[in-house]
Amino acid sequence: MTIKNTAERWGAVSQLLHWAIVLLIAAIAVIGLTMTDMANGPQKIKIYALHKSLGLTLLTLVVLRLLWRLYAGAPKAVAGTPHWQERVASLTHWALYLLMFAMPITGWLFNSSSGYPLQYFGLFNLPKIAATNPGLAELSESLHENGFWLLLALVLAHAGAAFYHHLFQNDDTLRRMLPGYRRAAPAAAAEPAPAVVAPAPAPENPDAP
Ligand code: HEM
Ligand code: HEM
Repeated sequence: MTIKNTAERWGAVSQLLHWAIVLLIAAIAVIGLTMTDMANGPQKIKIYALHKSLGLTLLTLVVLRLLWRLYAGAPKAVAGTPHWQERVASLTHWALYLLMFAMPITGWLFNSSSGYPLQYFGLFNLPKIAATNPGLAELSESLHENGFWLLLALVLAHAGAAFYHHLFQNDDTLRRMLPGYRRAAPAAAAEPAPAVVAPAPAPENPDAP
């Protein structure tokens, strides 16, 4: 597999970032949805800190992913894809990028405007991105929560489209985002089948009677 994207498929870096980010978002979402109902105490503080540190890790990975995307480009649409589907897919992808930035930033904004400190896995402190402000805290909390439901809806549509292509269109859309897939060589360029070499006849034995 190539490191960089080609016209036909996603390369190793794009694939690694795509699937690592999927797993990370799933973990952050499960933690986010369960932590708010926990009883106050040290356990809750720890789990909130984990949610925030994983969210900041995501922000870093999304920055790297976007830079790589701008540098390495994207494969061309799978052959036979109607133009409207290409447009919808492209719009969905850019909306997903937007939400992948919006989620950590609204979380950080809520944290800062609520007056909470922010540490990265207990290693170092991060600056506040807003002064304490209850109005802004309420707004950013609502954006963070509603943004999550929007992200979930888009991800479900996006994953649904990928499975639809795979199962019903039987095309390469999903396969080319997975490791190990090699496009079959086109028939014209295929290697000719090796000729069957008949074993050479045994030399005549001059001494034979
Ligand atoms: C992709 C990244 C993130 C996702 C998907 C995410 C998702 C969520 C979800 C689903 C909730 C629960 C909302 C609710 O039901 O009230 C939540 C709450 C929260 N998130 Fe995030 N989050 C992300 C990043 C961050 C970051 C980076 C921070 C802080 C720096 C953060 C801070 C918070 C806080 C403080 C809450 C609790 C809000 C409350 O107590 O009402 N999140 N997040
Ligand atoms: C948190 C969940 C997900 C996010 C945020 C996400 C985001 C994205 C983005 C932004 C792209 C466009 C790549 C680019 O242009 O740089 C993409 C492509 C892709 N994603 Fe996802 N994705 C998620 C989950 C999934 C899942 C669950 C599947 C499959 C079951 C999937 C399958 C694909 C495929 C096949 C492509 C390539 C599409 C193509 O070649 O046209 N994604 N994803």
